[in-house]
Amino acid sequence: MNITIIGTGYVGLVSGACYAKLGHRVVCVDKDPEKIAVLNSGGVPIYEPGLKELAAEGRLAGHLVFTTDLAFAVRSSDIIMIAVGTPPLPSGEANLAYIDQAAIEIAEAMNGYKIVAVKSTVPVGTNERLAKLMRSRTIMRFDSVSLPEFLREGSAIADTLRPDRIIVGAECDGAADLMIRLHEPLTDQIVVTDIRSAEMIKYASNAFLATKISFINEIANICEKVGADVTKVAEGMGYDKRIGPSFLKAGIGYGGSCFPKDTRALIQIAGNVDYEFKLLRSVVEVNQDQRFNVIRKLEAIFGSELPGKTIGVWGLAFKPNTDDVRDSPALEIMRHLVDRGVKAKAYDPIATDNFRAMFGKEGVQWCDKAEEAAQGADALILLTEWDEFAGVDLTRLQRVLKQPILIDGRNLFKEEHLAETDFAYYSVGRPS
Ligand code: UGA
Repeated sequence: MNITIIGTGYVGLVSGACYAKLGHRVVCVDKDPEKIAVLNSGGVPIYEPGLKELAAEGRLAGHLVFTTDLAFAVRSSDIIMIAVGTPPLPSGEANLAYIDQAAIEIAEAMNGYKIVAVKSTVPVGTNERLAKLMRSRTIMRFDSVSLPEFLREGSAIADTLRPDRIIVGAECDGAADLMIRLHEPLTDQIVVTDIRSAEMIKYASNAFLATKISFINEIANICEKVGADVTKVAEGMGYDKRIGPSFLKAGIGYGGSCFPKDTRALIQIAGNVDYEFKLLRSVVEVNQDQRFNVIRKLEAIFGSELPGKTIGVWGLAFKPNTDDVRDSPALEIMRHLVDRGVKAKAYDPIATDNFRAMFGKEGVQWCDKAEEAAQGADALILLTEWDEFAGVDLTRLQRVLKQPILIDGRNLFKEEHLAETDFAYYSVGRPS
């Protein structure tokens, strides 16, 4: 099949490289000439394990083309996928300006029948609105499809090539059949539904996963007070098939470019039809507060002495295997510490540059090595569970720190790791 994908962010680029891997001819379009130049020279503008190699393979095989020329791409394809960003507006609502613009440009470039599929996360009713917008700009026939995306950063390629399910929202049987044929090699679980339900499935899925995280974080907070171990509680709960084991890791709350944005957007979507989504409001509130779990521990340890202390920080990305720091809990935690007069020394295997660009405050020593961030610190806080940290020699780490205090915001270490050390070890929802 001939496919055009508009937007070369995580969703667009990963999807493009994966469809090319399946043997389709894919044109990836982006407005940013610098991004396209990077892609055409064999690089990728984002960090995602395996993506560079997969994109290069598609490009060299002639299956994957990168261009800024949207009209050329649209004319050369039967299926057009929109995968541009829908970042949050200050109100929490999704900003649909990029997607509207893409739809207008597609309509103006169309030279015959197309399927226009939206992969971006969009509020219910957006596909219908886009179709109207396009009809006002073209006399060519097209069918709209909602094709929400469920890939996770860090495991995006595996998620795309082996998805749990594919959701196809379509009003036209022909368009749905083509989408089934396109995705059949990937999974048997293809759910075909109406467009509005498909749009809702995406928000409901992310909101549900966010709910699981906030739920287990509150259980963890209670565990701390009653002397129970949340990791055991989660394990015990997870064997119940109705609950399932995933997304029950307690920590410092969810971040990233999706859950915070999509939960707020769904609250707004509900609000727009006069429904107050009380449960989801609490999920967001709990998540916001959970970031302060490590700060509360620092306060309990150092009391009024906290200002002036040197605190080592391990991990800045919102989760491991990505350099993405959007809405990373580390941003707020570090800003709070710096505002309190703490001297922070921070290290992340790959996200430091992105973090510095977004952080916007002085008072942090950015380190090139994990040990450097711990050197001479009064305490070390771990905010992202990178494998690199799991493998450190804790006896050596203890010697490097001024005081052997470790606050593990992601429950990375187990009791046996710490057995031979004198660490004062604090984690989330486990006995200290
Ligand atoms: C999330 C969803 O998992 C994807 O299915 C979806 O496609 C994507 O959003 C999106 O809407 O585009 P992603 O944001 O890449 O993917 O990352 P996740 O792996 O879901 O993690 C999100 C956050 O939750 C991270 O900060 C992570 O540390 C946190 N988390 C996750 C927990 O605190 N506990 C858990 O048990 C799981």
